[in-house]
Amino acid sequence: TQHYRITLLPGDGIGPEIMAIAVEVMQVVGQQLDLSFEFQEALLGGAAIEATGEPLPAATVETCKNSDAVLLAAIGAPKYDTLPRHLRPETGLLGIRAALGLFANLRPAKILPQLIDASSLKREVVEGVDIMVVRELTGGIYFGQPRGVFATESGEQRGVNTMAYAESEIDRIGRVAFEAARKRNKRLCSVDKANVLEVSQLWRDRITALSADYPDVELSHMYVDNAAMQLVRNPRQFDTIVTGNLFGDILSDEAAMLTGSIGMLPSASLGATNPGLFEPVHGSAPDIAGQDKANPLAQVLSAAMMLRYGLDQLIAADRIEQAVMQVLDQGDRTGDIMSTGMTLLGCKAMGAALVKALANLA
Ligand code: IPM
Ligand code: MN
Repeated sequence: TQHYRITLLPGDGIGPEIMAIAVEVMQVVGQQLDLSFEFQEALLGGAAIEATGEPLPAATVETCKNSDAVLLAAIGAPKYDTLPRHLRPETGLLGIRAALGLFANLRPAKILPQLIDASSLKREVVEGVDIMVVRELTGGIYFGQPRGVFATESGEQRGVNTMAYAESEIDRIGRVAFEAARKRNKRLCSVDKANVLEVSQLWRDRITALSADYPDVELSHMYVDNAAMQLVRNPRQFDTIVTGNLFGDILSDEAAMLTGSIGMLPSASLGATNPGLFEPVHGSAPDIAGQDKANPLAQVLSAAMMLRYGLDQLIAADRIEQAVMQVLDQGDRTGDIMSTGMTLLGCKAMGAALVKALANLA
């Protein structure tokens, strides 16, 4: 029996509900494939603020470091938006990314044929879209120094953030992206603003230099404004995208929306040595928390990504993804992806449908 220690960060809002489904699904797959999961829970975000006064308690970092992988649900709620920045749930998320050195964020945006009409774009535009956004996650303008609001000599305030990348930071995310492209359709588009920003010129030069090591991957470059446009004009031109922290934040939301169902999308954040962190792209949906209405599928698919990229258990990951396809094929839907003729299920009932689908897999 292969044994894994998994840290769970259920977080806020719908987080605990969808996490419970992911755990159930993992336990079933574990029994089927002789994997054993030891789950340990820790606090992050609003849940941590309530219990300890801070969004990322030191004990949470310890627990995460002491595990093979970290599964996060979602954090945040409007009531925390007025707290000072260092006490907000989002600061906890940025903190755990930094503490675990999770510099590579993988955000797949794949159109599911069953849900294609949920997209706000025309079917012929989004049909077949399958994009992987590789976003740098621990550098760039999110973390650059100097930062702050400073008084100027004239007495007004001046807000400052700094977009900076060292060569080594560009190289390590570049390599992750080339490797990812290699396992996909071997096309990599690097997105920057090299016509204006020096940091982007260095980014472009380094990515171009790296491409010598990946002759089988076709590299292109695109300015970020054009990329935003091309993503809605002709998204099928993209296979793998690599970009910095802020551009990746924005473009990955745009790419996610192409699929029309942000409630379906998982993500992975990986470092060099520490355990990876896996989370759905969607937020904590406080408006429907506690009502058994949430869509657990992105959380379940995040568990599949954890098995694939974090634990190298590809068969287990495949099984979970197959079970998700199975429930969609049979017409099971939560409210966010509901359409006529389908069966509306709550969060728990969707979990039960997944368990049943898993049991029926060959
Ligand atoms: C995301 C989120 C975070 C980010 C926020 C909540 C700090 O938008 O994971 O994309 O900007 O990275
Ligand atoms: Mn974001």
